[in-house]
Amino acid sequence: MASIKMGVFGVWRGNSYIGLMLDEPEIDLVAICDKNIDSMCDDKRLESIPKFKDFDEFLTHGKENGMNAVFLANYFHQHAPFAIKAMNEGLDVFSECTAASTLKECVELVEAVEKTGRRYMLCENYPFQNATLKLEEITQSGALGSLLYAEGEYNHSDSTEGLKRLTPGKYHWRAWMPRTYYLTHSLGPVMYITKTEVRYVCARAAHSDLLYEIKDFRRNYDGSAHLLCEMSNGMTARITGCTAMASDYGRYRVCGDISGVESGGYIPGGKVRQFWFEHTKPEGRKKNTALYKPVSKDDKKAKNAGHGGGDYRVVQNIIDYLICGKEPFFDVYRAVNMSATAILGWRSCLNHGENFKVPDFRNKEEREAVRDDSLTPFPDENGNGATLLAALPFEE
Ligand SMILES: NC(=O)c1ccc[n+]([C@@H]2O[C@H](COP(=O)([O-])OP(=O)(O)OC[C@H]3O[C@@H](n4cnc5c(N)ncnc54)[C@H](O)[C@@H]3O)[C@@H](O)[C@H]2O)c1
Repeated sequence: MASIKMGVFGVWRGNSYIGLMLDEPEIDLVAICDKNIDSMCDDKRLESIPKFKDFDEFLTHGKENGMNAVFLANYFHQHAPFAIKAMNEGLDVFSECTAASTLKECVELVEAVEKTGRRYMLCENYPFQNATLKLEEITQSGALGSLLYAEGEYNHSDSTEGLKRLTPGKYHWRAWMPRTYYLTHSLGPVMYITKTEVRYVCARAAHSDLLYEIKDFRRNYDGSAHLLCEMSNGMTARITGCTAMASDYGRYRVCGDISGVESGGYIPGGKVRQFWFEHTKPEGRKKNTALYKPVSKDDKKAKNAGHGGGDYRVVQNIIDYLICGKEPFFDVYRAVNMSATAILGWRSCLNHGENFKVPDFRNKEEREAVRDDSLTPFPDENGNGATLLAALPFEE
């Protein structure tokens, strides 16, 4: 019998995970919830699953039917309040990115996990793509030497029609999200590969004329943001938010003083490239570069899941955590480390690259300094409440 009784909240992105969860004997899908559920559920396998439009009704039904975990795939900037509510009701939480959209929420989320003792995992999937796992394996073998520098880059541009589909409504989060905020697909892999966190951040954004043309439905018309981070091991990392640069979809790179590894960008076919100097090349190697095609034991199953195997492995991480007790890498502290980097990175962009210390949310004193910091670029559903710009000031 399945021992994970899961509810899924937010069925647009949630749908990718629903299919994967239905394939797992350890997971029983107890209920799903989305305010637009009527137009979303044509999957035959979901016919018998109870469906709700309201989160509270979904929780009440779930609890009465043994639901012990929720997967949050609701709006990007609203995960923390729903995560806290679910944990206070005794449920474990698996959250899409981002964990929290203000520094105040970072504090509240961490304290809810500590107070309730519930399990929490950020479901960032890019670190678990085939190529990224190979970068991690090589890096963690120690083959790179002292780690000096890393890059994480994530590009996602689209046609106006495509952007309209992804941004339903004037106050939808995708229309107001500054460029630094969606950084888990670039920072997450770097943190996972190198087992580090961000300590300091400064950042710059750049205006896009192309995106400014559609400012009537998307207020966040910058084209890119780049964050320069001091990591917990002393290394420097250059991270993008979600950018719309005319470049490849994404790339990752880690350089030590002996060797360096990279994937994406101009490296073809999901391969990983390793580089050595002539003087650091291992004995017996003919060339000072190598190309690897990553293969994992679970490749066949992962292949059919989205995001280069990442989605499949997130589900496996959930099972490992809840059934085998294996702590996930993206626990609540690393999750809010990424959110806080995104938030402070944006303040840095608005202030010409000012340097910010990212609070260590494990440290109670560091929490106090930001406990009441609720600055946000996101308006509510009526267009009120945003206290930060969504893009750099721009004069025509
Ligand atoms: N990791 C990835 O690769 C990946 C890919 C896509 C989206 N995402 C994440 O998934 C989340 C959702 O994004 P999306 O693409 O599905 O678009 P979206 O944010 O527009 O969809 C959210 C869904 O949740 C529902 N919802 C939101 N608030 C609700 C409420 N209070 N009550 C009932 N239903 C509610 C909406 O009706 C909608 O169907 C975001 O956090 C996004 O960052 C992650």
